[in-house]
Amino acid sequence: MTSIKKVRKAVMPVAGLGTRFLPATKAMPKEMLTVVDKPIIQYAVEEAVAAGIEEIIFVTGRGKAALENHFDEPYELAQVLNAKGKTAELEAVTNMLPSNVRLVYTRQGSPKGLGHAIGCAADIVGDEPFAVLLPDDIIYNAHSTPLKDMVNLYEETGKSVVLAEEVPTERLKNYGILDVAGAAITNGQTDVAGFVEKPAPEDAPSNLGVVGRYVLSPEHFKYLLQGNIGAGGEIQLTDAMAEVAKTEGYKGLLLDGERFDCGDKVGFQMANLFFAMQDDYIAPRLQPFLQELARAQSKKAS
Ligand code: UTP
Repeated sequence: MTSIKKVRKAVMPVAGLGTRFLPATKAMPKEMLTVVDKPIIQYAVEEAVAAGIEEIIFVTGRGKAALENHFDEPYELAQVLNAKGKTAELEAVTNMLPSNVRLVYTRQGSPKGLGHAIGCAADIVGDEPFAVLLPDDIIYNAHSTPLKDMVNLYEETGKSVVLAEEVPTERLKNYGILDVAGAAITNGQTDVAGFVEKPAPEDAPSNLGVVGRYVLSPEHFKYLLQGNIGAGGEIQLTDAMAEVAKTEGYKGLLLDGERFDCGDKVGFQMANLFFAMQDDYIAPRLQPFLQELARAQSKKAS
């Protein structure tokens, strides 16, 4: 039996086209859209770092250069900010990563789906477990980092872990759904027997949907690299997860906190409002405006 390895690496697939945000994403990566004052990608990077990840592998594609530039040390900008005594701004753009964390970039030549994107990182990850973060999902918990809990669960059990949340019936068809085969949820955890990608409500094995955080065994690459085409004509991560669940077992961790799907216009606006309301400067100035807007909206509706 091989001993359980530490989770040191994370893969972030960012090669998608972001068509739901056109024209904003015509010349700019979706992951660089800002939620209050940080691009979406920075929330995911900070979360990975908080979970103890030491190497972040971005799977990028055409037109994503701005994303790579964002994490560089900005020498000229730093000089200007320094000279002007703008210390808060200087702090915001320098030392964005602890010195033990490194970023690695690889390419997905054409967007053949999430599973294919993760397969592109196989050689860089190698034979060890790895986290996957879909940056579109911003996760907020004021007290803990759910990804850290997932890493701990993997390191305790040796089983791959997905983050899950309850999904309303009409939205089951948009998610990878957990098959818990009657297993109970204890302390927010459950055993998972399998997964079904985007099922019709009548075929869904549960109401638990996968949200964009995973800790995966290297066994997943075996299936991802076979290149089997799944739902929507794409190489699906869910299909590889279903195969691994059969042989290695799997764990689900229920999300404790907020999740914003920033790949969708509604979720993106909600994330902006939510994080704005956490900000001491913005919140008291925004709140009266939101209340007024809500009043005007209900007057219009009545
Ligand atoms: P989405 O399903 O949200 O697709 O991808 P998308 O292309 O980013 O956005 P829309 O639907 O056209 O608006 C989920 C995640 O998988 C990545 C995306 O970058 C996103 O992080 N992805 C998707 C890839 O890296 N490659 C792909 O081929 C597909």
